[in-house]
Amino acid sequence: MFWTGYVARLACLTASGGVIQDSASSATLAAVLVMRERALKWKGNKLGLSGQARLRIYCSGHVHTSIDRAIWVSGIGEDNLVRIPVLGEMHSLDVAALDAAIVADTRAGFLPAGIIASVGGTSVGGTDNIAEVCEVARRHDLYVHVDAAWAGSAMICAEFRNLWDGIEMADSMVFNPHKWLGAQFDCSAHFLRNPESLVRTLTGSAISSICAPLAFGFIADLTGNYSTPFSASLCLLLVGAAMCLVMRPDRQVQDVA
Ligand SMILES: Cc1ncc(COP(=O)(O)O)c(C=O)c1O
Repeated sequence: MFWTGYVARLACLTASGGVIQDSASSATLAAVLVMRERALKWKGNKLGLSGQARLRIYCSGHVHTSIDRAIWVSGIGEDNLVRIPVLGEMHSLDVAALDAAIVADTRAGFLPAGIIASVGGTSVGGTDNIAEVCEVARRHDLYVHVDAAWAGSAMICAEFRNLWDGIEMADSMVFNPHKWLGAQFDCSAHFLRNPESLVRTLTGSAISSICAPLAFGFIADLTGNYSTPFSASLCLLLVGAAMCLVMRPDRQVQDVA
């Protein structure tokens, strides 16, 4: 957890909050649901997608299949996951093409909802230019989720950190301490700029979402309102139980060690 917090501080997202998900796939699904609800003015959960403008989500062709599955499960539909070409040795999203696709979709009556950027794609490590992607997103008021499932751990090393320049502008980011940081599976760290939007999406309540920043004082929330399984994960319960044990006032320091 120390390293998880350290990476989060590097991402400048700790002031906002985070939650431990059971997998990067769950974090990405949660992010896609937020994109959907935000774009539909928080009415998608109630009204469904029928009769609404068709949502669009943008990514490169190098993202993990968990992104496809999130699009299926969220009801957005594979045809609305727009694959943008990549450029350069890092196989980064071509941001000019990204911008043009968003403009064209908007003109055609689609509803752009968000962008999924990648730091370390599964096949060849494709890494998007996060700062440039976030600038495009800001221009079009879109949500940005960064999938750094395996490569996020490497950002502890100063020599790699330039690979996610601009990460502080993203709305959410996931990386898996259970991949390279030796954490027990399942431990996907999902950091959020604005926890309220996730809580509002998964509880359907603006009031719960107002309380979210209070719960996010700690790195993880225990209520299950921040994850798609709707319950605290086993890992979270174990971390909580371990912390209670360690912090017991009658516990001797040598017992803990
Ligand atoms: C880039 C990337 N994203 C997402 C995932 C999915 O991670 P998880 O198994 O935690 O859902 C992987 C898995 O290896 C991955 O490499």
